[in-house]
This record gives sequence, C-alpha cells and structure tokens, in this order.
Amino acid sequence: MRSYKVLTVCLGNICRSPAAQGILEAAAKQNDVFLELDSAGTAAYHIGNPPDSRSIAALRQIGIDISHQKARQVTKEDFNEFDWILAMDRENLSNLKKIQPQNSKASLVMFGEFNDQAAFGEVADPYYGGNEGFVEMRKHLTKIADAFVHHLHPNKED
Ligand code: 4NP
Repeated sequence: MRSYKVLTVCLGNICRSPAAQGILEAAAKQNDVFLELDSAGTAAYHIGNPPDSRSIAALRQIGIDISHQKARQVTKEDFNEFDWILAMDRENLSNLKKIQPQNSKASLVMFGEFNDQAAFGEVADPYYGGNEGFVEMRKHLTKIADAFVHHLHPNKED
C-alpha cells in the first residue's frame, strides 16, 4: 500500500498542528493507512518548544501522547518533501501560499475542508482561551482526521 507524507501547519506549532499530527497518527493506525507525519508553524516564536501543556493534556485524555514533539518553522523545502500540507486556518494558508515554490509537489489545502461541518474549513485557535477550547479543538480535529484518512482510502471500513 502506498504511504503519504503529511505536514500539519498552524501559526505557532504548539497548539493545533501538533495535536493534528498526534490525532492523524492515531487515525492512520486505526485504519491501517500508512502516513508519515510532521508538523510546523508559519511563525518562528516557539521554535524548539514542546506543545502547549493544554494541548498535551487534551490529547492525553484520549490516550495520545504528543509531549515529545518540538516546534519548528515551515520551510520552502517542505513543499517538495511532503505530499500534503494541511493548513489549520486561512491566515496559515495565505502565509503558506507566499512561500510555496512553483510546481512543487505538495497539495496545499485547508485541513478543515475534509469535514463538511467545519466553519469555512477553519480550526479555531485555542491559544488565548481556556482548557475547554482545547477539548473542542481535539474533537474538531478528530472528525477532520477521520474524514482525511477516508479521503485517502475511501474503501476502508470504519
Ligand atoms: P497554534 O496557536 O498556532 O495553534 O500553535 C498559537 C500558538 C502561539 C501563538 C498564537 C497561536 N502566539 O501568539 O504565540
């Protein structure tokens, strides 16, 4: 079976995209789909930092450990390294388009567009809110991740 290299991207690479990476890893494993995953931020503020403790806690509640991840900034090279680059919001998408090399390999899309219930395909940024926003983010990302895995392999059973 073919594998896919997938990069999840948000602003800081400490809240949404590390969570999306962990949730996609779990969804892929559950569905016998082979994904090689990484995550990155469009901004450089948090390079080298672990995910936000609230993201780590929200995912630990469902048995997913993302504490080992380290933030990095997205690079031009990522566009030829990955098959998919999945943006969490429109601002991320717009910043990614600015550095996307012409004719590069990756399909650059909004992650939320794989789930038709998403509001304009955006995953809301929970950084300035409380813990409950991180649980909402986790639930939203879980729905999108399942939809994305089924998009790659539509013949797979649940
Ligand atoms: P993320 O959330 O993009 O989901 O990682 C944020 C993290 C940090 C900041 C903003 C959003 N910040 O302004 O430092």
